[in-house]
Amino acid sequence: MAIWVLCHLLLFLVLEPTNANLEGDALFALRREVHDPNNVLQSWDPTLVDPCTWFHVTCDSQNRVTRLDLGNAKLSGKLVPDLGKLERLQYLELYMNNLVGPIPAELGNLKSLISLDLYHNNLTGSIPPSLSNLSNLRFLRLNRNRLTGRIPRKLTKLGNLKILDVSNNDLCGTIPSTGSFSKFTEDSFKNNSRLEGPELMGFVRYDVGDCN
Ligand SMILES: *[C@@H]1O[C@H](CO)[C@@H](O)[C@H](O)[C@H]1NC(C)=O
Ligand SMILES: *[C@@H]1O[C@H](CO)[C@@H](O)[C@H](O)[C@H]1NC(C)=O
Ligand SMILES: *[C@@H]1O[C@H](CO)[C@@H](O)[C@H](O)[C@H]1NC(C)=O
Repeated sequence: MAIWVLCHLLLFLVLEPTNANLEGDALFALRREVHDPNNVLQSWDPTLVDPCTWFHVTCDSQNRVTRLDLGNAKLSGKLVPDLGKLERLQYLELYMNNLVGPIPAELGNLKSLISLDLYHNNLTGSIPPSLSNLSNLRFLRLNRNRLTGRIPRKLTKLGNLKILDVSNNDLCGTIPSTGSFSKFTEDSFKNNSRLEGPELMGFVRYDVGDCN
């Protein structure tokens, strides 16, 4: 019996460090995926116990990641779904890079997120409806990408949203104007040649017709 307990204890001690670095693993998945010509991710060593000493990463007092500051870092390549595992992340700053591909729906799991800044990249695909789960979100800047599709109407339930910018994309359909969207001006939506609206004066246009 004692041996059995000891074996399990040893197994736990062996496995524990990798469990503890789930957030480091999630970030390292990003490092593996992107091209980093300026070596801004050079300090990202996955063998460390947590990612809190890595450059461009900030943690709270419990060594959980709260900020990722990689704006204007010359990164290219795709975002990884793993980023959705950073439960305490408040600031995801990846603006002004050359990121391509879709915005992972998993970013909707970032319950603590305050700021999602992905502007000035080359992201494609549509805005994930899952972002409507980010109830703490205050800044959502997706402008100057190549995003297509409709603006998910569910985003209007983001009650804390202060700044929304989806301008300079290729979005289509109508602009939601209810909820938190009632305070945004057309500047938030400009230069999306196929975007219509806003759905003014009680004249609600439903999500019908071609729009991809
Ligand atoms: C986006 O991609 C196009 C075509 O691949 C490229 O010419 C352009 O420089 C890229 N834009 C940005 C902001 O990286
Ligand atoms: C988040 O959003 C998606 C799509 O809107 C929804 O299906 C899901 O149930 C929501 N909740 C969680 C916890 O992901
Ligand atoms: C409109 O947005 C597209 C896509 O981001 C961009 O390439 C283009 O330069 C923008 N046009 C203007 C006038 O800003």
